[in-house]
Amino acid sequence: MTSVMRAWPHLLALDPLNRDDLEAFLVHAEATKRLAIAKQLPAVPKLGVVNLFFENSTRTKTSFELAERKLGLDIVSLALASSSTAKGESLYDTVATLLSMRMQLVVIRHASSGAADYVAKRCKAQVINAGDGTHEHPSQGLLDAFTLYEAFGSLQGKTVAIIGDIKHSRVARSNLACLPKLGVNVRLFGPHTLLDPAHVTIPNVTFARSFEHAVEGADAVMMLRIQHERMAQGLLSTLDDYTLGYGLTDERLKRLAPHAKILHPGPMNRGVEIASHAADGPQSLVLQQVDNGVFVRIAILLRLMGVSV
Ligand code: CP
Repeated sequence: MTSVMRAWPHLLALDPLNRDDLEAFLVHAEATKRLAIAKQLPAVPKLGVVNLFFENSTRTKTSFELAERKLGLDIVSLALASSSTAKGESLYDTVATLLSMRMQLVVIRHASSGAADYVAKRCKAQVINAGDGTHEHPSQGLLDAFTLYEAFGSLQGKTVAIIGDIKHSRVARSNLACLPKLGVNVRLFGPHTLLDPAHVTIPNVTFARSFEHAVEGADAVMMLRIQHERMAQGLLSTLDDYTLGYGLTDERLKRLAPHAKILHPGPMNRGVEIASHAADGPQSLVLQQVDNGVFVRIAILLRLMGVSV
């Protein structure tokens, strides 16, 4: 049965959400997935949505577009190479121009932390942050939590290791804003140059002293993409060194608990932070994450519209 629930004004970050909000969302996403698979999604107003990707995306952009189509929304996806931003138009003018065409929702990815927040404050639209700089990627955080919830049921007392460039990862930041509130013990591991000491002040979060310590008995291991620019910045020596110290190699795969799941938000650097046997093996949830991305984004859109299922 379709009913009205408290609408989220925007989805800019997971940090402001509390445990009740997150648990309610997981239940809502589960029901949404069931209805979407049965092709019984509720009828919703035919709102206009602008997908505004100022950075490359395969998974997030495609899954938002699929989610919007499944809800019957009016969709505009701006091809930025052909947009006026290339001629120097400001972010505000680009969004204001599109909203003048009677659009109500903006999905935005931008290289600047705070860009989604800025649009939400300045423009009359509901805004979904599809990744802003090194700040947050809240829809990814929700789909990661949902994928773990499907795998384990309750997340209370589970242990998840997050390994890699924690400091610059908006995915890690959203997961850190979500998983500990759901009762997950999070272990962080990565090069010292890519860790943020502030993270250890989050309840249920610890730094692991080695890869082995991070994954020992863990229920899930989330590998993060290493960005080549970290070498140019002097934060890493070589990719080979990174793999030796921090990669989920074939050898380390054998040390995971048999029930442990492997996650990666993508895109993956195979052979660098994750070996193909880990990415494609029976413990991997990588493609499950992608599949759930569509359902979770339908659930997010419904929450912004105040529709429960
Ligand atoms: N996980 C993620 O954000 O992937 P894309 O960059 O392909 O959207």
